[in-house]
Amino acid sequence: MRCAHPPTARRPPTGGRRSTRAPPRSYAATVPDPGHFDALADVYDRARPPYPAALWDRLRTLGVLRPGARVVELGAGSGLATGPLVRAGATVTAVEPGPALARLLRARWPDVTVHEATAERVALPHASFDLAVAATSVHWLDLDVVLPKLHRALVPGGALAVWRHVFGDPQAPVTPFRQRVADVVARRGAVPARPGPGELDTTAWSARLAAGGWFRVVDVAHLRWTVVLDAEQVRDLFLTFSDWRPDEADAVAHAVRDLGGRVTEHYVTPLVVLARAATPVR
Ligand SMILES: C[S@@+](CC[C@H](N)C(=O)[O-])C[C@H]1O[C@@H](n2cnc3c(N)ncnc32)[C@H](O)[C@@H]1O
Repeated sequence: MRCAHPPTARRPPTGGRRSTRAPPRSYAATVPDPGHFDALADVYDRARPPYPAALWDRLRTLGVLRPGARVVELGAGSGLATGPLVRAGATVTAVEPGPALARLLRARWPDVTVHEATAERVALPHASFDLAVAATSVHWLDLDVVLPKLHRALVPGGALAVWRHVFGDPQAPVTPFRQRVADVVARRGAVPARPGPGELDTTAWSARLAAGGWFRVVDVAHLRWTVVLDAEQVRDLFLTFSDWRPDEADAVAHAVRDLGGRVTEHYVTPLVVLARAATPVR
């Protein structure tokens, strides 16, 4: 799960990414297999902390999330964003290629329409949604295919909200726990780059999302928040990161026990909100 790679304590999590140029034609062949999310569906479901309240407040303040809004969510996973969207009064259509994750979504939110498909392949009705959401999934998407599709699927005045997750805020003070995380990462050496620009590079993401003229950026925010985790929670969470081996997740859980049994983690949720262009500028 390269979308969730915890950065080292001292280095921002933005190194080794691709440029903001349009992706090559055979996009699927250039990104890691995202199927491992599905293989770990239950762990993913219990381990990922909820998105911060400030995120939902901001979407409401911007007027893009409101009761009755018709939302299409791409890469819904186990529903970390689906639940709050439903609770906000939205009618949600979820697109999720992983069968185990899609089963979880269906079982938990029977009112949500779940398409077990990729965003590139799913057929979406035209002019049928007020809001499209990609929560920690945009970097898995072939935007050359997905942006025009979303433009067709959204109504005039519709919006696209995209956010990522940074597990380990590079601006936060380096805690003893983060130092132990950095030690594990340093022992491991180089890891494969995740697809797309780095999580915090909202400038590059904004450019990617506005490319083609289908959407224009209306809001960018970096939402900073903290969460307190115990050793088991840390182990589960780090297991959901594709570049973390089980023995490494054990090592950081051990660090939590050494440090008193609980750690305060500093995370960042970078958010980009875009408006559907009335007429795409090509
Ligand atoms: C890091 S998870 C995020 C899940 C959920 N949105 C959340 O906020 O926890 C990325 C999700 O994107 C899904 N995904 C990967 N490639 C995709 C694609 N091409 N189209 C739609 N979803 C995709 C994965 O199956 C996975 O559920």
